[in-house]
Amino acid sequence: MATASVIDVDYEQPAAQGSVCDTRHAWARVPPEPSPVERIALKERIRRLLRERNAVMVSHFYVHPDLQDLAEETGGIVSDSLEMARFGRDHAATTLVVSGVRFMGETAKILSPEKRVLMPDLDANCSLDLGCPVDEFSAFCDQHPDRTVVVYANTSAAVKARADWLVTSSCALDVVSALHAQGRKILWGPDRHLGDYIQRQTGADMVSWNGACIVHDEFKALELDLLMKEHPSAKVLVHPESPADVIALADAVGSTSAILNAARGMDAKEFIVATDTGMLHKLRTLNPGKTFIEAPTAGNGGTCKSCAHCPWMAMNGLVELANALETGAGEIHVDPALGLRARVPIDRMLAFTAGLKNGQPAGSLIAGIGAA
Ligand code: 13P
Ligand code: SF4
Repeated sequence: MATASVIDVDYEQPAAQGSVCDTRHAWARVPPEPSPVERIALKERIRRLLRERNAVMVSHFYVHPDLQDLAEETGGIVSDSLEMARFGRDHAATTLVVSGVRFMGETAKILSPEKRVLMPDLDANCSLDLGCPVDEFSAFCDQHPDRTVVVYANTSAAVKARADWLVTSSCALDVVSALHAQGRKILWGPDRHLGDYIQRQTGADMVSWNGACIVHDEFKALELDLLMKEHPSAKVLVHPESPADVIALADAVGSTSAILNAARGMDAKEFIVATDTGMLHKLRTLNPGKTFIEAPTAGNGGTCKSCAHCPWMAMNGLVELANALETGAGEIHVDPALGLRARVPIDRMLAFTAGLKNGQPAGSLIAGIGAA
């Protein structure tokens, strides 16, 4: 039987002042692809276990297409990280099976401590989370006591507990604009590209942690520009974890859900997509008449690091998911006291986004929270 391949991953570790980086090593364990016969049997076993365990699947757009389709087919969801959090919190199932990376499982557990939260592989990490250890990040915050701490969802529970606000890429601009409009100064972490993008868009006074996503950091503007010349009518869709010169070439910038909405809303026939290739599955299924082309990473001779697929998202497989449901392996635990503290900024984000949806003014939704 085929075994999992273990991939070496390098990521950046910023220093406590959030500026200088050194390179650290991590790994990802990618399961082999089951045969067509095994896939059918595994999916059937998972459907049965979901019913028996009163469980629902919550999958991210970057995981294997099988785990996306199975989630939708069985009453679960495939979505961006904000919607995953909201769906898990509001669903009546007593077990959530989160296919994605660890911070997504932790967020689900923090929002629903009474539910059992399982993941196919608990070692599925994220370079932003790894590159933002709580002690160093806290020291950075301590150096800027006058700033409101706004933290990206791709972080540990401990880092969230240090924050005034949590955001995902789908609401970061709205939250920071509202804070900026009230004259707040921002401490942002950990993704430097998303932080820069928000700063450029809002003009807010921001200092930023210096982390990066190993996938999006690899998109290359020069090669993208050449590809755009080969496809002059293609629209360019970019996730804001990408470098500024890549974002500058975009027709639409946004979270995974925003990318999906843009592709559906624009009447172009061709799109170049600068985000994880896992996204292509949903883009292609929902837009059968349109063509989606991967944005270039390190060009010819690129290493696995530059293949535009998150090695940790790739750790989610059918075998691992079935085993988690069968045995309870892969259960997420978050220290309850830490969870209570981390929940404060997560609840703020969910209340803020729900309020905006209901037409409430952004300013009224942030009043009095964080450093003045
Ligand atoms: P979204 O919030 O856009 O789904 O992004 C999560 C993520 O990890 C992107 O790399
Ligand atoms: Fe983290 Fe990047 Fe993977 Fe998203 S794609 S989970 S930001 S390493």
